[in-house]
Amino acid sequence: MESAIRILVVDDDPDVLRGTCRVLEHAGYATLTAANGALALQQVTAEHPDLVLLDWDLPDIDGIEVCRRIKRDVALADIFVVMASAARVSGDDQLQGLEEGADGFIARPIGNRELAARVAAFVRIRQLTRNIATDAVTLQARSDELEHANALLAARTSALEEANQSFLNASVASLNLLEDALQASQKLEQSNRDLLVEADLRIQAQADVGAYVARLEKATEATLKAVAQMVELRDPYTAGHERRVGELAAAIGAEMGLSDASVRCLLLAGYVHDIGKISLPAEILSKPTRLSAMEMELIKGHPQAAFEVLKNIDFPWPLAEVVLQHHERLDGSGYPRGLQGDDILLEARVLMVADVLEAMSSHRPYRPGLGLAAALAEIETHIGRFYDQRVVMACLSLFRDKAHPMPS
Ligand SMILES: [Fe+2]
Repeated sequence: MESAIRILVVDDDPDVLRGTCRVLEHAGYATLTAANGALALQQVTAEHPDLVLLDWDLPDIDGIEVCRRIKRDVALADIFVVMASAARVSGDDQLQGLEEGADGFIARPIGNRELAARVAAFVRIRQLTRNIATDAVTLQARSDELEHANALLAARTSALEEANQSFLNASVASLNLLEDALQASQKLEQSNRDLLVEADLRIQAQADVGAYVARLEKATEATLKAVAQMVELRDPYTAGHERRVGELAAAIGAEMGLSDASVRCLLLAGYVHDIGKISLPAEILSKPTRLSAMEMELIKGHPQAAFEVLKNIDFPWPLAEVVLQHHERLDGSGYPRGLQGDDILLEARVLMVADVLEAMSSHRPYRPGLGLAAALAEIETHIGRFYDQRVVMACLSLFRDKAHPMPS
């Protein structure tokens, strides 16, 4: 059950005190009493009543002073003080009471019913005042909470904003990096396209150069063949000799496993190995009888004559030197310089064997053709003396073992 409102009734008149208490208790309030100001202050401090009904005229401390002390005490200030006065209390005195904090006035004499009604009204006002105060405290607390929440929200918003800004910065940085990477990639692509175009151009240029070199080589070969044919026109008995020696030398070189360059050198050297004979009188070349010693000396000049013609042509092989050495022999008995052994170029050692083989096999004005077998026997007989062992062995393998056909 809700505790009753407690009212301290202060009056020095015992009849008034009793009568008032009776009315109030009848109205449902709990009452306390004090007969003077000092007792009233004691009761207020000890009991902390909800309302004080305070007589204006008290014998010791008057009501205004009691009211003032109650209202100035922070611990007591919420106690509702109603001053009860005789009708003769002036308007100025009532104003002073208000200034000292009195919450209301009751003028005497007053009937019981009015007393109860007025006290009830004061109790409601006091209750409303307390509710308002409580609400104010609650509001303040809520306001504080709200403020705290706002502060937290502001801090979180700030952190979020910071995070957003960081994210934005990082995003912008990432985008920049991405853009840089894209540009680099595009540059790389362009560079690759340029390289491809350049590579195509180079391949085309190389193909052009290759085709040009091939044409030049064909032209060189044709030229050398034409020169050889011119020489052979003056010596119809040896027609085709140079071409056949070239093909034979190339076949022997290939059988020995020489490089493509050496094999080609042998082919072309064979084509022109006797062009020096153009310097000889035609009658010596076609003489059907044996040559005199003097004529032989003239004949021995043809390798040097060929060298003089060929030495200034810029071949990729030592073609002029090979032609110059094609009548040398390993034992130094050859001409024109009497070179020996390894001083003779390997290609020249091949060419000399091909030359002998072809010459012995073919018909000459001064003798009939001796045939391949005799020619092979001849080079075999002089293996290591006149002719290089590797060359002779390759030659024998080619014609005896593999039945290579003699060039026709
Ligand atoms: Fe010769």
